[in-house]
Amino acid sequence: AGTGKFFVGGNWKCNGTKDSITKLVADLNSASLEADVDVVVAPPFIYIDQVKNSLTDRIEISAQNCWVGKGGAFTGEISGEQLKDIGCKWVVLGHSERRHVIGEKDDFIGKKAAYALSQGLGVIACIGELLEEREAGKTFDVCFQQLKAYADAVPSWDDIVIAYEPVWAIGTGKVATPQQAQEVHVAVRDWLSKNVSPEVASKTRIIYGGSVNGSNCADLATKEDIDGFLVGGASLKGPEFATIVNSVT
Ligand code: G3P
Repeated sequence: AGTGKFFVGGNWKCNGTKDSITKLVADLNSASLEADVDVVVAPPFIYIDQVKNSLTDRIEISAQNCWVGKGGAFTGEISGEQLKDIGCKWVVLGHSERRHVIGEKDDFIGKKAAYALSQGLGVIACIGELLEEREAGKTFDVCFQQLKAYADAVPSWDDIVIAYEPVWAIGTGKVATPQQAQEVHVAVRDWLSKNVSPEVASKTRIIYGGSVNGSNCADLATKEDIDGFLVGGASLKGPEFATIVNSVT
């Protein structure tokens, strides 16, 4: 881990029922979590209120997405204002499932980030390459292009955490090695230093996501530029998620 406060997010994706979430919240409420870690969970929109009303204040709440601007006649969308209203502190944007399954593009994601920040939300800004892009030697190019879209849109990086999630590692059980993750995290920091500012580069947390679990988190957490994790599948199990939170070194 680096010098910034360790940050661990649990992205529940499109999983859960009222009952399973009641159990998960109870497990999280009884878990003992290292004090010096920011801990966030991102339930599906419809369960945010349930989680907000039952989860310990120790853990902050994120949404998994939001609308690109002010709410209004946008059927099926949820606005940043509404997320604030219901008690969210964060929103995950640019997740690979939204980029590659739903088809969201870089500049649309950048606009979402800027609007969410303007509403006082923190942004977990995801980036990451596809397997074929990695194999073609384009990992850095892809990540830098996605970063640039955020950088072009946002007025400040104060409330942004970058999540590097190589698409080939997400939900596959094929975690990046600590070296592979560290290599990209350093490159991202270097890009921020050259293209935004050295100050932003040193203070922005860069977290890793993609098949993180209770067994591989400790090794990843030893790396200097890995400032935490964004966890999918393993965040649906309270005790395992707590292990990941407590992997801070
Ligand atoms: O946002 C977290 C995520 O995409 C990683 O998912 O299931 O591989 O931990 P998973």
